[in-house]
Amino acid sequence: MNRLRGKVALVLGAGSVGTGWGNGKACAVLFAREGASVFAVDKRKSAADETKRLIKEEGGACVSFEADATKARSVSDMINACVQEYGAIHVLQNNVGGSAPGGVVEMSEEVWEANIDHNLKSAFLSCKYAVPVMLKSGSGSIVNVSSISGMRYHRGRDMVSYSAAKGGLMELTRAVALKYADKGLRANNVVPGLMNTPLVTERIASQYGDGDAKRMIASRDAMCPTGKMGDAWDVAYASLFLASDESKYVNGTELVVDGGLTARCG
Ligand SMILES: NC(=O)c1ccc[n+]([C@@H]2O[C@H](COP(=O)([O-])OP(=O)(O)OC[C@H]3O[C@@H](n4cnc5c(N)ncnc54)[C@H](O)[C@@H]3O)[C@@H](O)[C@H]2O)c1
Repeated sequence: MNRLRGKVALVLGAGSVGTGWGNGKACAVLFAREGASVFAVDKRKSAADETKRLIKEEGGACVSFEADATKARSVSDMINACVQEYGAIHVLQNNVGGSAPGGVVEMSEEVWEANIDHNLKSAFLSCKYAVPVMLKSGSGSIVNVSSISGMRYHRGRDMVSYSAAKGGLMELTRAVALKYADKGLRANNVVPGLMNTPLVTERIASQYGDGDAKRMIASRDAMCPTGKMGDAWDVAYASLFLASDESKYVNGTELVVDGGLTARCG
C-alpha cells in the first residue's frame, strides 16, 4: 500500500474514453492506492472527475484538472496548478495517445500532424514543463506510455503516424533520461501490446473493423500468444514499478507489456 508514499503523481490522460478501465485511469487509481497524491488530468473534465471520484471513494488523495496535452499554454498551466496544489511533482505519467488508420500513401497531412501531436508533442510538452519542477526536488520518474506499434509492424493494420510517434516517444524518453540521469531524474517507457481497454469498443472496432466490438475483441485476443489481450491493470502495475523507487536503477528503457507478442516470429 505504500510503494508511492509521499509522492505526487501527475497522470496525464487519467480518464477513459468509455465505461471501464483505460490505462491512465487504472494508473491513477493504483498510484493513489499505493499512497501517492494524484493530480488527474484529462482533456475531458468529466473523465478526470470520474477518476477522482473513484480515488476519493477508496480514501485516496486526488485533484482533477482539465488540460489539453497538445497545447503548450494548457500544459504549462497544468504544471503550475499541480505545484500550487501539492508543491512538487515526483511522478509524471504520460498516457495521452491513440492511433489513426492509414499507411504512408493514404494518410492525409492533417491526420499525420494531429496524430503526431497527440502521441508525441503531448509528451514533449509535459516533459518540457515538468522537468524543471522535478529537478528542483532532486528526483523524479517519468513514465511514458508507448506501444508495440512503435517497435513492430502490425500486418494488415497500417497506422503510420502512430508507429512513428510511439517509436519517437521511446527516443524522446531516452534523450530526457540520459540528459538528467545525474540529476536524480529517470524516464522510461511502458510499452503495451494489445490491451482490452474501453478504447477497443469505443473506437478501434469501427476504425479497424466493421464496428462489431465482440468480433474485434475476439480477433485481437486471437492475435495474442496467451489467447487473450492484456488489460489496463497490466499497464498500471508495470507503470507503478517504473514510477516507484523500486526501479531506481532503471533508466532510459522500455518495459514491454504484451504477453510475449513482440517476442514471436511468425
Ligand atoms: N488500448 C490499447 O490496446 C493500447 C495499446 C498500446 C498503447 N496504448 C496507449 O495507452 C494510452 C491510453 O490508452 P487507453 O486505451 O487507455 O485510451 P483512452 O482513450 O481510454 O484514454 C486516454 C485518455 O486521454 C484523454 N485525452 C485524449 N487526448 C487528450 C489531450 N489532448 N489532452 C489530455 N487528455 C487527453 C482521453 O480523454 C482519455 O480519457 C495511449 O497512449 C495509447 O496509445 C493503448
